[in-house]
Amino acid sequence: MQLLLTVNGMQYEVEARPTARLLDVLRDQLGLIGTKEGCGEGECGACTVLVDGRAVNSCVMLAVQARGKDVLTVEGLAQDGELDVLQQKFVEYGAVQCGYCTPGMLMSAKALLMANPVPSEQDIRIALAGNLCRCTGYSAIVAAVKAASGHDATPAMVLPGEAEELAAEVSTDPETLAIVQEVVEAAEAELIQGTPPAPEAFPSPGAPAMPPGAPTAPADPEEGE
Ligand code: FES
Ligand code: FES
Repeated sequence: MQLLLTVNGMQYEVEARPTARLLDVLRDQLGLIGTKEGCGEGECGACTVLVDGRAVNSCVMLAVQARGKDVLTVEGLAQDGELDVLQQKFVEYGAVQCGYCTPGMLMSAKALLMANPVPSEQDIRIALAGNLCRCTGYSAIVAAVKAASGHDATPAMVLPGEAEELAAEVSTDPETLAIVQEVVEAAEAELIQGTPPAPEAFPSPGAPAMPPGAPTAPADPEEGE
């Protein structure tokens, strides 16, 4: 059957089976592969698009049901080469890992902000409840949506200053450096000689180390006679 669809502000005429899913028409016929398929049964939210401003799972919606309606996919978020504020905040807040859930997350968040520009954290969590992410743990995603809506939100990816100071302290500690050097030398000796280093070559902190190749016990003067 012939379908006239409006997607991201453009009109498309496509030939599709009456039972074709909106997801398949978007991906396979219009080439809009930003929308992802996860479960294919309305559970994961990876396929979320907006239809007349409402977030829907395009894997369980027939394409014919979108006739005469405005469909918005993740490709339609950026305008004039500028990322949507939600996309910017997802990047800034490290709300993306593998990225598979991200288009669906963005579209659900977009529907929320269109209906409620200043949502509470609970509103955000409810709006995203149908979008599953196996990577991020959700905190960064919620923080990004909060930030996009003008709330103060702490980026999850900013390293604390103390961690850098601690790293600098550890790498310049003379005792730590001496132990690391002993271990490296012992490993090199093993590679050269093909024999495992003596346990004494791996000293515990504070214990004097025997040099590589040194005898582990005083030589017996009688030995060899
Ligand atoms: S692919 Fe549509 S909800 Fe999972
Ligand atoms: S970022 Fe990997 S599933 Fe969400």
